[in-house]
Amino acid sequence: MTQTSAGPHTLEVALGDRSYPIHIGPGLLREPGALSPWLAGRQVMIVTNETVAPLYLERCRKALPDDVELRELVLPDGEATKNLEHVSRIWDALLEAGFNRRCTLVALGGGVIGDMVGFAAACYQRGVAFIQVPTTLLAQVDSSVGGKTGVNHPLGKNMIGAFWQPRAVLIDTDTLATLPPRELSAGLAEVIKYGLIRDADFLAWLERSLPALRDLEPDALARAIQRSCALKAEIVAEDETEQGVRALLNLGHTFGHAIEAHQGYGNWLHGEAVGTGMLMAAELSSRLGWLSTDDVERLRAILRAAGLPLEAPAEMGVDDFLSRMRLDKKNVDSRLRLVLLRALGDACVDDATPEETLQTLLEQFPRG
Ligand code: NAD
Ligand code: GLY
Repeated sequence: MTQTSAGPHTLEVALGDRSYPIHIGPGLLREPGALSPWLAGRQVMIVTNETVAPLYLERCRKALPDDVELRELVLPDGEATKNLEHVSRIWDALLEAGFNRRCTLVALGGGVIGDMVGFAAACYQRGVAFIQVPTTLLAQVDSSVGGKTGVNHPLGKNMIGAFWQPRAVLIDTDTLATLPPRELSAGLAEVIKYGLIRDADFLAWLERSLPALRDLEPDALARAIQRSCALKAEIVAEDETEQGVRALLNLGHTFGHAIEAHQGYGNWLHGEAVGTGMLMAAELSSRLGWLSTDDVERLRAILRAAGLPLEAPAEMGVDDFLSRMRLDKKNVDSRLRLVLLRALGDACVDDATPEETLQTLLEQFPRG
């Protein structure tokens, strides 16, 4: 596997006249005017939260040209805020500022801010420009790329939303220096996901590199972010609205979303729930004869090395999983569709899992 340097790197999400760049590198937000090329006009609103604002709002301001009509909105923090009430606060602020269709929203923060700001942009005056400035590992490798925007509903994760692509994604890898270790581990779950779904070599590299990644070693982080974004860009360009291959990006999510919604949004981090969900998907794949028990143990060791939970919540029974899983967006009519693994590095969508095999997995999967 070739060496990757931590220096600046640019990828493209190829979507015809809606194509956009992903710029990755240390210190990108410190470049004066770094966000200028993607502004639709002079009206700009930075939306962030109360944790990220003291860390990076000033830097983000400086990444804009001096002559913009700038507004800033600082929302409360947390997955529990990812709802229509907080998206409405963005619309209120835009209207109070008199912003028109040529305005640009800047999403400065993790996936919660990115998903809400993207959805606000998709709907405001039927669609305005937005730029993603992701500051968590999870947002840098996944949520800022690909245009899935939206909010949670008490009955289901990400149930209200729209596809709306950003104009650019600016990933300043320096922002990871302030990220709490638990959040870093949650982001690693999505990085591991890419290896599992379509890149066995990347998975093997990750297996060796998790200690360096958890130590924020710059070259290792650069490789993980660049490869994850490249895989995501490739899949999104192939299938923007998830008619086919994009569903593979949901590996672990059908189980994981059930955990997040059941436990109350924010109690389990999204990446933690996805990590455990991927292990559940792997165990189910093994029960179907696709993965060996060695494969499952290998994945368990990778997730452990990433600092992720390996057991489902003690209080979640089989019906708690099944009732949430039946609301999954991938389902067609009343058929459950699950992303499973034919091998580590080769995922597929399966709609023929026997009910009793799933039921037994849900009964027997370890709880903690
Ligand atoms: P998050 O946005 O809640 O951020 C995690 C925590 O880190 C928050 O407390 C945040 O304030 C804080 N934070 C952010 N940047 C920081 C920094 N640099 N230093 C210190 N603290 C920082 O969570 P997340 O893991 O980034 O995103 C999870 C969300 O993303 C979920 O809602 C999930 O559904 C969504 N998601 C969306 C997609 C998509 O394609 N749109 C993909 C994956 C996940
Ligand atoms: N995170 C899943 C997707 O973007 O499709």
